[in-house]
Amino acid sequence: MTTPRRACIIGHPVKHSRSPMIHGFWLKGFGLEGSYEREDVTPDALEAFLRGLAARGYVGGNVTIPHKEAAFGTVDRRTARAEALGAVNTVWFEDGLLWGDNTDVTGFLANLDDRAPGWDHGLDKAVVLGAGGAAAAIVAGIKERGAKRIFVANRTAEKTEALIRRFGSVVEAAAWPPSAATFAGAGLLVNTTSLGMDGKPGLDIDLAGLPPQAVVTDAVYVPLETELLANAAARGLRTVDGLGMLLHQAVPGFERWFGRRPVVTPELRALVEADIGR
Ligand code: ATR
Repeated sequence: MTTPRRACIIGHPVKHSRSPMIHGFWLKGFGLEGSYEREDVTPDALEAFLRGLAARGYVGGNVTIPHKEAAFGTVDRRTARAEALGAVNTVWFEDGLLWGDNTDVTGFLANLDDRAPGWDHGLDKAVVLGAGGAAAAIVAGIKERGAKRIFVANRTAEKTEALIRRFGSVVEAAAWPPSAATFAGAGLLVNTTSLGMDGKPGLDIDLAGLPPQAVVTDAVYVPLETELLANAAARGLRTVDGLGMLLHQAVPGFERWFGRRPVVTPELRALVEADIGR
């Protein structure tokens, strides 16, 4: 008899994470005996926790706010994507070494591929609002798909400068709040700021400058239809909500820990949607 595999989500706070629901759904679907648990770990305890992960009986896990950069510094080996971002959200063991990957890039790309197929065909210009950790993963994804110019608009200009240093001249600084000129000719608009999230101010910007074929997506998924997405839909633009990014970023971790590649199904989406609605 083999011991059931255990993985966890490491964060602080971690109570509201929906990752246990997602991985629990897949474990049940495959009929696997493993588990996926919550671990609330304070920043001062993170390094020791990760070093002792195997001793605690875990085969790996996810790392979330505020630990993604610290985890990057603690793992033994990193994937190219984690290196490009300076942040790790998924860890696992290989030959006794702790590996770190960043699956937010995959999550972002797979969500758009799924909900707005063809979004990257001939993508010339993209606009990203915000310049935090989520923005870095999204810029990396858009760059990977060949966009020629990625305009970043952020309240704090220094954070945009940091993205330009990280990703090079494909990233250009745009004014905050973004103007109609910034949107002209853009095939993709992504919000990565926390504006529009439940309990935060809305993101009330004029989308008139966007071309009719533009795709608009939001990293915020509570609520599912943000003010930005509602405005974009009212203009007849294609919109993609942020829930799929959360669901798709979980796929590579599950496969590494439990050895089966899960699929993001309408049933899983409905389960998490219902939880968001509660
Ligand atoms: P994450 O890692 O999830 O991207 P973050 O690093 O806290 O989170 O980034 C939040 C983003 O929302 C930032 O771009 C932030 O802008 P600043 O860099 O100026 O802080 C943006 N943001 C948050 N509140 C905002 C507000 N009231 N107006 C404009 N931008 C805001």
